[in-house]
Amino acid sequence: MTQAQTLLQELPTDLVRERLPRHVAVIMDGNGRWAKRQGLPRIVGHRRGVDALKDLLRCCRDWGVEALTAYAFSTENWGRPLEEVDFLMTLFERVLRQELREMMEENVQIRFVGNLNALPRSLQAEIARSMDETKQNQGIKFTVATNYGGRQEILQAARAIASQVQQGLLQPEQIDEALFERHLYTSGLCDPDLLIRTSGEMRISNFLLWQMAYAEIYITETLWPDFDRAEFHQALCDYQKRDRRFGKV
Ligand code: IPE
Ligand code: IPE
Ligand code: MG
Repeated sequence: MTQAQTLLQELPTDLVRERLPRHVAVIMDGNGRWAKRQGLPRIVGHRRGVDALKDLLRCCRDWGVEALTAYAFSTENWGRPLEEVDFLMTLFERVLRQELREMMEENVQIRFVGNLNALPRSLQAEIARSMDETKQNQGIKFTVATNYGGRQEILQAARAIASQVQQGLLQPEQIDEALFERHLYTSGLCDPDLLIRTSGEMRISNFLLWQMAYAEIYITETLWPDFDRAEFHQALCDYQKRDRRFGKV
């Protein structure tokens, strides 16, 4: 490890620990464009994207961020060519199998959010295993949004609540924000304070629609495979300059 790398393991001195975001969410975009720029197939970009995510997870842990949520596959991503979708599903499964031991060692608590029942069976099994094995871990809360769509998440919550009302278990007046949140996939996790999107796109793309109500948004032109600690440092510096008013004056 070079001296610069060692230094980056500690929270950079220009960041204030007390003002770090508790929860960082990231739309990991630009894998395809990264690969295309190097004249490589898109899947190579996805592979490199995994490395960038692994490093960000470690960085969050090193610097004291409590929760990281990453958008890995949206409900709309099924519309991509079958080969790419298949590659991604296999990649998720393989990475999960390879990384489980290290996540245990690093005390990571992994959780998947999204419509998981529609994923390939073998991936569902790996997901269940990793969530089960790490559920007692007290380190960083790492959430992976897979076959996730914000609208779909809100709909399934509405359906579950409606069914309770229909059965007479709940009165419509009892439906408040706290109750609604308990029916979201992210139940128990605080809302993201900071949303990072790479590759310059200025949109949410159906990610955490409810939870993002007051997130600070940081968009960088950097493509996801190139997003490193220095980039994250920059995002955090920018975040710490923001005045989060939450509607107040
Ligand atoms: C993000 O990179 C990864 C996934 C959506 C799975 P993209 O694959 O969207 O890369 P671009 O946007 O085409 O460059
Ligand atoms: C958002 O990226 C989804 C993920 C990063 C998993 P997309 O590349 O799918 O989003 P759009 O199509 O640019 O909105
Ligand atoms: Mg994209």
